[in-house]
Amino acid sequence: MQTLRVDLGERSYPIYIGADLLARADLLAPHIAGRQVAIVTNETVAPLYLGALETALAGYAVTSIVLPDGEAFKNWETLQAIFDGLLGARHDRRTTVVALGGGVIGDMAGFAAACYQRGVNFIQVPTTLLSQVDSSVGGKTGINHPLGKNMVGAFYQPQAVLIDIASLVTLPARELSAGLAEVIKYGLICDEPFLGWLEENMLALRALDQAVLTTAVERSCVAKARVVGADERESGVRATLNLGHTFGHAIETHQGYGVWLHGEAVAAGTVMALEMSMRMGWITVAERDRGIRLFQAAGLPVVPPKDMTPEHFLEHMAVDKKVLDGQLRLVLLRCLGEAVVTSEYPREILNATLSADYAALVDQLKH
Ligand code: NAD
Ligand code: GLY
Repeated sequence: MQTLRVDLGERSYPIYIGADLLARADLLAPHIAGRQVAIVTNETVAPLYLGALETALAGYAVTSIVLPDGEAFKNWETLQAIFDGLLGARHDRRTTVVALGGGVIGDMAGFAAACYQRGVNFIQVPTTLLSQVDSSVGGKTGINHPLGKNMVGAFYQPQAVLIDIASLVTLPARELSAGLAEVIKYGLICDEPFLGWLEENMLALRALDQAVLTTAVERSCVAKARVVGADERESGVRATLNLGHTFGHAIETHQGYGVWLHGEAVAAGTVMALEMSMRMGWITVAERDRGIRLFQAAGLPVVPPKDMTPEHFLEHMAVDKKVLDGQLRLVLLRCLGEAVVTSEYPREILNATLSADYAALVDQLKH
């Protein structure tokens, strides 16, 4: 097992990474303050992993709150169901909320922990690749609004993150690919050599090779922990973690939550960010195409939805959290391995990026 650390002064916490950690009561116990634990999970994950976690927590008064599954349920109604479960079982201020599931569960359970009785202990047990490499670390919690993705939420750090690599064996291939989008992101924004490693190991990753997955999760979490430690509240470098997300969130919101998976939208959105970085003269055509090929190798979509016009993108991007004083800031690549956040780009380049023919571009890559 490997232990990483998110360095945030007195709110620092460990990330445990290894196989079969779900049953490790010894890892959980130091992060549980009182006698009450509420496990928040969903209908898909509960039959797979809830029993093992309940067994590990047998010494506590455990309430299990099983929610409906899906991005479409990341909303007020489902959040209310978590509070119903907590209050119904008389959970007090020393209770610990444990999120068992993917990013949807982690974001909602974390937000519930931030709000319940003005804040209770919280532990992340992520079970998708995406949540293991990204959403469980860093304390962003929240829900969607019909008008914008993740628009209501709080920064609320967990006491610990327990990553059981073995839980990935049951993950559907499409969900694994979605997680790979965020893994590739780290290579693009801050770790160019990682791109080469991913090119060499993509087949093994998709075949669920545990050793290779462990390396990918560790390397991603090292990058995430470093960025969060430097800029917890996203006043600077943390925004680079949103490479492709401004375009991607527009796709998710426009298509309806859950139609495109978050990682799929991020992949197509990052292709748009690569295209724009190329049009800015910062990366070469060959570098853009290298990024596109890597997303393709990961089994991800690289062309935005056919029905989305530049106007649709602009409408949704206007409510992005990176809009400041009416100015849309975008995450772009100065070169592979270095991201910048900027509002200084010619409007024509953004328009050209939004109206580019990505299907034709990808078609050319075949020849
Ligand atoms: P998800 O939570 O919807 O999980 C994907 C699917 O896999 C679900 O059907 C889930 O039930 C199922 N599942 C989970 N673990 C499984 C397992 N081990 N075996 C089989 N099935 C399993 O999606 P996700 O990709 O994990 O997370 C996406 C969400 O994370 C989005 O809402 C996104 O906005 C959010 N996010 C948050 C942050 C952050 O910093 N907080 C970062 C990135 C993404
Ligand atoms: N996933 C983006 C962030 O944590 O900041």
